[in-house]
Amino acid sequence: MLLNLAARRRLLLLGGKGGVGKTTLAGAVSLAQARQGRRTLVVSTDPAHSLGHLFDVPLGDRPAALAPGLDGLEIDPDATVARHLEDAGTMLRSMMPAHLAGAVDAHLELARSSPGTHEAAVLDRLAAVVTGALEGGHGTPAYDLVVVDTAPSGHTARLLSLPESMTLWMDALLQRRDRSERFGELVSALGPSAAASGRAARDAQIREVITRRRDRLSGLHRILTDPRSCSFAIVLNAERLAVLETGELHAQLSAEGVDVGALVVNRRSPADQGPQLAARREREEVHLAALRTALPQVPLLEVPHLERDVLGTEGLEALAAHGL
Ligand SMILES: Nc1ncnc2c1ncn2[C@@H]1O[C@H](COP(=O)(O)OP(=O)(O)OP(=O)(O)O)[C@@H](O)[C@H]1O
Ligand SMILES: [Mg+2]
Repeated sequence: MLLNLAARRRLLLLGGKGGVGKTTLAGAVSLAQARQGRRTLVVSTDPAHSLGHLFDVPLGDRPAALAPGLDGLEIDPDATVARHLEDAGTMLRSMMPAHLAGAVDAHLELARSSPGTHEAAVLDRLAAVVTGALEGGHGTPAYDLVVVDTAPSGHTARLLSLPESMTLWMDALLQRRDRSERFGELVSALGPSAAASGRAARDAQIREVITRRRDRLSGLHRILTDPRSCSFAIVLNAERLAVLETGELHAQLSAEGVDVGALVVNRRSPADQGPQLAARREREEVHLAALRTALPQVPLLEVPHLERDVLGTEGLEALAAHGL
């Protein structure tokens, strides 16, 4: 069912609470799709390198081979934020008089620790990676499918709504720059000076940076909200709180126009391995029933709790063999 969903999409996101099995399932689906002949890229934003550990391959910010037809990439949030702030610093310093350089640095230092900066930087990088992987450079996309293992935070839905709000903000910024550019032109028409033309060049540069970022974000937003291209799988364990949170996440995603194509209830206890696990399974049934009632329209997949941790391509294939 999850494999079926992935097979019919170009972008699949997996999200849910911490430790429920997002990375494991992202790995299993990606591997299975690559085995089917679809060139696949699996992307993680988890700074703990769990995707790399899963395949026992060191991963970084550029795609690296995990298996035939399957590449992996880990977005490093801290490095991304550092790069982002460097760009912003260059831009701000060129806009401000030299004696304010200290104030610019202080401002950037503050921004470094703000969660908004972190999210925006990771989102910008994710947008570049996803759109780059799916659109390709010269007509041929680099990958048929991109699977995103989203960060284990409650912010997933907000993250997905960011492209839209940030695009609006950037449009406003661009309009303001347009006006000042026109003013600059007027001034240079009155009497062209080296200072004015320097300013115009700088303005054009800033405009280009903002435009590129805005285009990347709106590209990501377009794909995310196209249910024929993209779907979101919510991963959870059969617990009361998880069921409530899944309802909320589903509502947020739907409100943003993101298709939720699967509920994956991972780590289901077995019925035939002792009374304790059987009793646990019965308790899980209650929560599962609540989930079905709350979201009857979303296909639901149950994945058994395997005896051992899922590791390496063999482990992932063993998991997939239970039917994903
Ligand atoms: N069906 C399963 N059976 C047995 N073990 C599992 C199963 N699914 C996941 N695990 C194990 O549970 C642990 C957590 O899984 P995983 O790292 O995929 O979760 P996650 O949601 O990505 O966590 P985080 O939120 O920290 O990123 C791992 O050790 C993994 O091997
Ligand atoms: Mg993970």
